[in-house]
Amino acid sequence: MSAFRTITVQRDGSVATVTLNRPDKLNALTEELFGELALALSDLERDATLRVAILTGAGDKAFAAGADISAMSEMTPARAKAFSDLGHAVGGQIDAAHFPVIAAVNGFALGGGCELALACDFIYASDRAKLGQPEVNLGVMPGFGGTQRLARRVGIARARELCYTGDVLGAEDALRIGLVNAVVPHADLQARVLEVAKKIASKGPLAVAQCKRVLSRGADVPLATANELEAQAFSALFGSSDQREGMKAFLEKRGATFVGR
Ligand code: COA
Repeated sequence: MSAFRTITVQRDGSVATVTLNRPDKLNALTEELFGELALALSDLERDATLRVAILTGAGDKAFAAGADISAMSEMTPARAKAFSDLGHAVGGQIDAAHFPVIAAVNGFALGGGCELALACDFIYASDRAKLGQPEVNLGVMPGFGGTQRLARRVGIARARELCYTGDVLGAEDALRIGLVNAVVPHADLQARVLEVAKKIASKGPLAVAQCKRVLSRGADVPLATANELEAQAFSALFGSSDQREGMKAFLEKRGATFVGR
């Protein structure tokens, strides 16, 4: 595993926790941080024993309070395009990962922070979380996939309203519109997300990976094509030893031991 300056990566069995680690700047996202996230995700992708990743922020206040405004203030259009491409690439890596990535939003998830959380498979939020796309306050707009992922997550009308007004939502409002899956007391967030991650990690890993792939790719193609993707993935799992083990274990009334093959 590579050594990093702006993130940390910790392992608990088959679950990895990636922490955005610039707490004095509320984990604001820089080119360096995106570069390190890309490297960390590549490392994790190569690790066949990894089942689930958690993405969270260091400190008690923020997941990430956005892209780094002081870095962006001097950007030319060309540099801004490259910065946007970096953010999109990381979102694409999360999408394509063989493992689910859960965002544990432990405070502010604004602008790029909200976009990074949206790139994850789903979001659990602390009751202190605040989420939104306030870029219009700065004369810019979401640039790391926010317009598209927010619209897909909460519907286009709510995405329009959030992007146009820059309004920031509290955790309960984010839950009400489906932006986050659950709201957890602040002190319990990391333990609760780890519990969910470990539950997922105990299931058939090939099955979870195929669920992720079909849910993700299926969202962007016509229904008939998506259903065909599902049928192919479903049938492919019948060539795995995990399918044989899972069904045999059920019939023998014991817990299954999955090996990821
Ligand atoms: N980029 C760069 N630095 C940021 C930042 C960002 N997006 N968000 C916070 N910081 C820095 C602050 O400049 C401050 O640094 P300093 O101590 O060196 O001055 C530090 O993080 C703490 O932030 P501060 O504003 O003092 O905390 P707060 O609790 O008073 O306010 C926020 C928290 C989130 C409301 C406020 O920081 C904020 O509005 N941030 C920008 C949010 C935003 O517009 N994001 C979208 C960017 S596209």
